[in-house]
Amino acid sequence: MAYLEIKDLSKKYSDNEIIKNVSFSLDEGEVLSIIGLSGSGKTTTLRCLASLEEIDNGEISINGEIIYKGGISLKESEINERRSHFGLVFQSFNLFPQYTAFENIKLPLSLREKRNKKKGQPYLSDEEINNLVNDLLGKINLTQRASAYPCELSGGESQRVAIARAIALNPDILLFDEPTSALDPILSKEVLKVINDIKKTFKKTMIIVTHEMEFARRVSDKVVFMNDGVIVEEGTSKEIFENPKTDILKQFLKTFDNIV
Ligand SMILES: Nc1ncnc2c1ncn2[C@@H]1O[C@H](COP(=O)(O)OP(=O)(O)OP(=O)(O)O)[C@@H](O)[C@H]1O
Ligand SMILES: [Mg+2]
Repeated sequence: MAYLEIKDLSKKYSDNEIIKNVSFSLDEGEVLSIIGLSGSGKTTTLRCLASLEEIDNGEISINGEIIYKGGISLKESEINERRSHFGLVFQSFNLFPQYTAFENIKLPLSLREKRNKKKGQPYLSDEEINNLVNDLLGKINLTQRASAYPCELSGGESQRVAIARAIALNPDILLFDEPTSALDPILSKEVLKVINDIKKTFKKTMIIVTHEMEFARRVSDKVVFMNDGVIVEEGTSKEIFENPKTDILKQFLKTFDNIV
């Protein structure tokens, strides 16, 4: 049984079918990259998983437990529960400008622990939260920048803070939407290295939408190629990058001429 199982995920905007019967599965600790042309439905797929969009149809299971089944409307609390399984890192960082790097990582975690305390569930103390945040700042190599505000951070540093903030909540699955597309090649490299480190140290299950083909080739256990809302090809990194089957994927990869 796969850790994450997505079956027939579909989403329309008005009458426009944006993603159609998207299905894939992933084992725990595996990294899946989603590649494809602009407008092929990659972001929409992530947004559906992260419960930022309503899904029209499909099924999502984690560890054998169905967390979403199409056609059943969920209560707000159920949507929040579903959301907590996924952590989404956006291409534009989305840090709170009025808080420091430290506070940006701490805030969502503090709020969650307060909610847990209120509900009578186990929770982390403030000291434990501070330790965890400091530990994460160390792991992303930003201890020295803990008290800097987002406007004082480089794009690469901001993205690393955003990644640490997502990891602090310990979601089952981390989702990245083009985490480096707002960065220059050097800052991109820093962020890609952090993602690679997360794979090694945290063994996190991750789904990464990216146009960085060389990175996708190296970091991914599986790769999905989307076009026009459907999965055209999926396979191991080797299968997709070294032995693409469809003309459309061959054509797509050709545009990244360092690969093929
Ligand atoms: N809120 C929305 N309302 C209507 N249509 C939308 C909405 N969001 C996305 N779309 C459409 O859905 C399609 C897929 O968009 P999506 O953002 O998922 O593509 P993408 O693969 O992430 O593209 P890119 O590589 O440019 O980020 C596009 O045609 C887009 O215009
Ligand atoms: Mg997108």
